[in-house]
Amino acid sequence: MPPGSESERPGEPSGRIYSKSSKGFPRPQTLTRGPAGPRLAPRLAAAGKQSPGGEARKRRGHEEARPGRGEASLARRAGSVYPRRSSAGDRRPRRGRKGAGVSGWAETLAERIEKRTARPAVVGLGYVGLPLLAELARAGFRPIGVDVDAGKVAALREGRSYILDVPAEAIAPAVGEGRITVGTDFDLLRDADTIDICVPTPLRKTKDPDVSYILAATEEIARRLRPGQLVILESTTYPGTTDELLLPKLAAGGLTVGEEFFLAFSPERVDPGNPRFVTRNIPKVVGGVTPACTRLACQLYGTTVERVVPVSTTRVAEMVKLLENTFRSVNIALVNELALLCDRMDLNVWEVIEAAATKPFGFMPFFPGPGLGGHCIPIDPFYLSWKARQTGFETRLIELAGQINGSMPEHVLDMVRRALNRQSKAVRGSRILVLGVAYKADIDDLRESPALDILGMLEDEGARVCYHDPFVSGLELRDRKWASVRLDAATLREQDLVVITTGHSGVDYRLVMREAAAIVDTRNALKEVREPGHEAKIFRL
Ligand SMILES: NC(=O)c1ccc[n+]([C@@H]2O[C@H](COP(=O)([O-])OP(=O)(O)OC[C@H]3O[C@@H](n4cnc5c(N)ncnc54)[C@H](O)[C@@H]3O)[C@@H](O)[C@H]2O)c1
Repeated sequence: MPPGSESERPGEPSGRIYSKSSKGFPRPQTLTRGPAGPRLAPRLAAAGKQSPGGEARKRRGHEEARPGRGEASLARRAGSVYPRRSSAGDRRPRRGRKGAGVSGWAETLAERIEKRTARPAVVGLGYVGLPLLAELARAGFRPIGVDVDAGKVAALREGRSYILDVPAEAIAPAVGEGRITVGTDFDLLRDADTIDICVPTPLRKTKDPDVSYILAATEEIARRLRPGQLVILESTTYPGTTDELLLPKLAAGGLTVGEEFFLAFSPERVDPGNPRFVTRNIPKVVGGVTPACTRLACQLYGTTVERVVPVSTTRVAEMVKLLENTFRSVNIALVNELALLCDRMDLNVWEVIEAAATKPFGFMPFFPGPGLGGHCIPIDPFYLSWKARQTGFETRLIELAGQINGSMPEHVLDMVRRALNRQSKAVRGSRILVLGVAYKADIDDLRESPALDILGMLEDEGARVCYHDPFVSGLELRDRKWASVRLDAATLREQDLVVITTGHSGVDYRLVMREAAAIVDTRNALKEVREPGHEAKIFRL
């Protein structure tokens, strides 16, 4: 149980409808790299003067960065919590540039980021946080990683990576040379100039957002917040989280956002297992609480990613991520529904989609499957629908998509029944091998995997179930330990049915096709396999 998870309400409803004042703010722009490192495109630099979001924020009672705040007064306010000089260099605030909307702290941090003397920290070293930590080290910083999981910290200290997309070589040398520091102690953050929060954002049993991990991490940061620090939330969450939850906690100590500390939201878009798009070449959307916050966060990410896209507010940035994932959820629901229809009409839905995808404009292929999986697509739309309800709005399409996608494991079970029926067999007592338990191909992530639902449902129906997954050697389900079986001819021949639930690329599908008695293929994994005489035993979604 995460700290405070049951007692905390996810984001006390503000009762406010989203401010419409963001209209007319600067459009997203690109951060460009200059000879002396990344620079904001001129329009954004100008935006610092014109204070995008200024009106809205004034209404909300946030101060804008005031130019030229005196160094002495800032140092006084900083008091003893702030080291006047550290091993990483001088962090005392510079005098702000008059008329530029830049506080002394902002200027100092900008300079430290540019010179790579700033120390970035990442809180939460999972699928999102660890690649970021590695990229920050690669960019020339000496990053700090904090995670509550002592096992992960121990692995990293030994130079081992537990994330497939992050090779040990991206971590081990930097850890060995002391360029990466990791630990479970939040006091490490006292040395940090920037702090990225990459903690989980799951759902509660009621399908409401569980922001307890964000709150726990923020409280730790707030306790140690000092002038000159930039905090960026990366965890996927509903619009308003940064403003409504993080800002009050961080500002409670008396520091002024946009002037003495900086706060932004930047959604993570990492796609585990995708070798083409990695942290570096996936554009990063950034929305700060004030223009200074946006500028600094853009500058930080400009050191690690090729393109940074500033937006006018944290809420816009939060909504961007939810739009992206809801877009996927709704489109997957559409093709899942089409798959159910094609099943009745005896049409191959895969052939239909692939032919439709030859249209060079206005169509983007999505593919059906046994259900949604992973930390994002099955979860994020519910963050949006929860927030929508706070404003009295019902997101009908999102709910419907959730229902259709959620019904897919049941449909797979129905296919299993039909495939066995054709052999005059019942599910009860049949030997069934589930092929692939990761939620998508070529990764080891089991979170929300529909294959786990299918394993459980088959067991409930009395089948004798086993699984094979080249990426997942063992798992725990229903208080029982399961081990991946070998995928060889003998194992396949023992089965009454094989259900392909994940289309891992390294599997010998020719062998599966030859040896299995019957196959339910929910991923079109057998598409390229030609084994004359074996076609009839395939039941395609
Ligand atoms: N996995 C993805 O593909 C993906 C993609 C885009 C966005 N996201 C989002 O990014 C966020 C993180 O996801 P993830 O997949 O990296 O999760 P993860 O579970 O892999 O990693 C989260 C890490 O945070 C640590 N943690 C939990 N509470 C903490 C605390 N209070 N302080 C410090 N560390 C803490 C956990 O031990 C874990 O190591 C989520 O909001 C998720 O929706 C994930």
